[in-house]
Amino acid sequence: MFRLIYKNIIKPILFLFPADDVHTFFLKVGRFLGGCKIAKWKTRILFAYKNTILNQQVAEINFENPIGLAAGFDYDADLMNILPSVGFGYHTIGTVTLLPYAGNPKPMLGRLPKSKSLLVNKGFKSMGLESILKKINNSEKQIPLGLSIGSTNQLYNKVEEMIEDICDSFKRVLPLDYFDYFELNISCPNLINVENLKDKFDEPIGLGMLLNKLSYLNINKPLFIKMYSEKSSAETLALAEVASRYQFIGGLIFSNLVKDRSNPHFDKEEIVNAGKGNFSGKPTEKITNNLISEVYKKYKDRFIIIGCGGVFTGADAYEKIKRGATLIQLITGMIYEGPSQIGNINKELAKLLKKDGYKNISEAVGSYYR
Ligand SMILES: Cc1cc2nc3c(=O)[nH]c(=O)nc-3n(C[C@H](O)[C@H](O)[C@H](O)COP(=O)(O)O)c2cc1C
Repeated sequence: MFRLIYKNIIKPILFLFPADDVHTFFLKVGRFLGGCKIAKWKTRILFAYKNTILNQQVAEINFENPIGLAAGFDYDADLMNILPSVGFGYHTIGTVTLLPYAGNPKPMLGRLPKSKSLLVNKGFKSMGLESILKKINNSEKQIPLGLSIGSTNQLYNKVEEMIEDICDSFKRVLPLDYFDYFELNISCPNLINVENLKDKFDEPIGLGMLLNKLSYLNINKPLFIKMYSEKSSAETLALAEVASRYQFIGGLIFSNLVKDRSNPHFDKEEIVNAGKGNFSGKPTEKITNNLISEVYKKYKDRFIIIGCGGVFTGADAYEKIKRGATLIQLITGMIYEGPSQIGNINKELAKLLKKDGYKNISEAVGSYYR
């Protein structure tokens, strides 16, 4: 019911306004609702779906359901108090950077509704780590909470400087014992600062340099690497091979935004008129699904895989799970289908699992390859 109201009334109104403004509005509303007990209770009744078939323990963390908010929506930690009521199973804040960055020149966001995609050109807009940590209130945490860390968007002469910036962020947050997991975002395609560097994290040598430095920090929570979308299977497996050598790397997230405008999932007219930036949603779906399969087939349980890209329905999520994803993340599906879609996805997923005879979601992970 709410989905119909959102799609037919609320969304058409919201989509009349620039996407940047609507995102800011959403964050303000979410922050306000999160501070109001009755609003949270009503939101939970309206949206959240619970079913024990979706419960699983992953990396010693209890997840009530596998659907998480991906990095990029709540980049300055405004939604911690409302997202559990919306029905999310977990939530990533960020990507956060050590120093603040105001973001690339506007527009930072755009919409491609026929392609079911969003245009993103934020370039690690962040209040900076210190300001974000001040906003985080320990007592309200109800679902597993992660922090995505990336490098400050500034010019670096050498990759070592960029690595130091990332390590400094980890050094700051590790003693806090507040986050349940971390994400290492090496794959943002919007950054201006990577082109001139000799070594980059998208090649085994550069990634190895970064992970080697991080290995000295005693990272005591699961760390997931946010992977690139537009790497071949061989390139992705080479990066996974490097990651597999470091025990503190708990898993991989497939994957980030896409750049390639010849992707067949774009509506031709929309993509010709799209501004500067990279893309989420349906154009990422097939690519991420293939990468999940490739890595799961080779590494099985070595990595916890988080499937992210173009999940709009329970069937979309289930496809990623059967290919090897243990958890799912999304943003774009929620923007196009509305916040009630999180509960709908969980409900549909529970139904699909039952239909296939599973007693728990964990039994379905990687089922295509068993
Ligand atoms: C508005 C927006 C901002 C994003 N910013 C980040 C980010 O800061 N860090 C990150 O790792 N991924 C970021 N992403 C990528 C998403 O986390 C995700 O990988 C991608 O959108 C595919 O998922 P989706 O199709 O469900 O949106 C962003 C995506 C969107 C739509």
